[in-house]
Amino acid sequence: MRSLAKTTIAAAALLLFSFAAFKQIFNSRPETAAASQGYTSSSDGDDDDCAFRAIFNFGDSNSDTGGYSAAFNRLPPPNGRTFFHRPSGRSSDGRLIIDFIAERLKMPYLSAYLDSFMPNFRRGANFAECGATIQPLDGQMFQSGNILAMESHLPSPDDFTKALYTIDSGQNDLSAAVSSMTVGKAKASISNIINHFSSNIEELYKLGARTFWIHNTGPLGCLPYYFVDYPPNPGALDAVGCIQSHNELAQAFNSQLKDRIILLRSQLRDAVLTYVDIYTAKYTLIKTACTHGFVDPLGFCCKYHDGDPRGCWKMRRVNGTEINPSSCSDPSKYISWDSVHNTEAANKWISDHILNGSLNDPQVPISQACRKNIH
Ligand SMILES: *[C@@H]1O[C@H](CO)[C@@H](O)[C@H](O)[C@H]1NC(C)=O
Ligand SMILES: *[C@@H]1O[C@H](CO)[C@@H](O)[C@H](O)[C@H]1NC(C)=O
Repeated sequence: MRSLAKTTIAAAALLLFSFAAFKQIFNSRPETAAASQGYTSSSDGDDDDCAFRAIFNFGDSNSDTGGYSAAFNRLPPPNGRTFFHRPSGRSSDGRLIIDFIAERLKMPYLSAYLDSFMPNFRRGANFAECGATIQPLDGQMFQSGNILAMESHLPSPDDFTKALYTIDSGQNDLSAAVSSMTVGKAKASISNIINHFSSNIEELYKLGARTFWIHNTGPLGCLPYYFVDYPPNPGALDAVGCIQSHNELAQAFNSQLKDRIILLRSQLRDAVLTYVDIYTAKYTLIKTACTHGFVDPLGFCCKYHDGDPRGCWKMRRVNGTEINPSSCSDPSKYISWDSVHNTEAANKWISDHILNGSLNDPQVPISQACRKNIH
């Protein structure tokens, strides 16, 4: 059973866990010997590509491919309408950036993997979830985990080392902060969030993780959601119409994130950490939306029939009748799908601009993210 599972995983698995869940799963293994020799300086393939054995993704709803939907409530149609043609657990009409990452690395999509091989994970693991934050609210969901059942489906310790660890987070931490405190106080809370981020990376490193692909956080003040709930006064907007103070908060977060990554590079000698500038990709897209075929860069596509954006992520029942959210006719014309998450068209544009490395530090394409010598 184990060797079958190993082959399956070696063919490349995409798993989503919270840090806490990952640790619990990892520690439940009989052999927890974290491979200590660096994977990062050698190549398995014929070319320079890293031949990752797996992707472990940690993040919030921007990379959730079904954790929230499985655990709490199913996302209703028209989520999924463009690509999967059914709700796929993703808050989007189609693929997420994590899906384009999987495609680029020739790996299966997460949900396909979960559906085929790991039904138990649906209940047991703490996926990247809508609402996940870096700060510890984590770990709570894992209590019902059927660790023994999952154990036989886990990668070998070697595969943990030869995996790509993608991290996409911060947005929920920051939006929680801005909705509960002043921007000034939110700014002051950043160092705490960064400390948690850092200790999560260190924990993963101790478990054998070596290659990290870390997304910074996007321009928070450009999320249409904020315009619906708290209409900003015009003086609060920047040149493209986003809320300046929220974007400055995201920039402050990103600057501390980048500094911490640079520090971690000197501390975790065998790790390779790529800082991925999602912020610039997303902001550039909003700024130049019209030249890329998008209309109304701060509009959004999926909403409840009265226009409430919260209608897109939950089914509503009115007098006993289920009412699905409604979608615009052409999601590919919009950047934002549901006022918080992007459409597939926007996710593809952003992926095209980050996966070749041109916005990142260092400028390596994702397929070569394990190469240490580039630093
Ligand atoms: C639901 O039922 C109540 C009572 O019959 C009625 O007053 C109300 O208008 C209904 N709401 C909708 C949205 O149909
Ligand atoms: C990366 O892709 C973007 C979008 O296609 C392109 O504009 C840019 O020139 C590419 N950069 C490199 C280094 O290939």
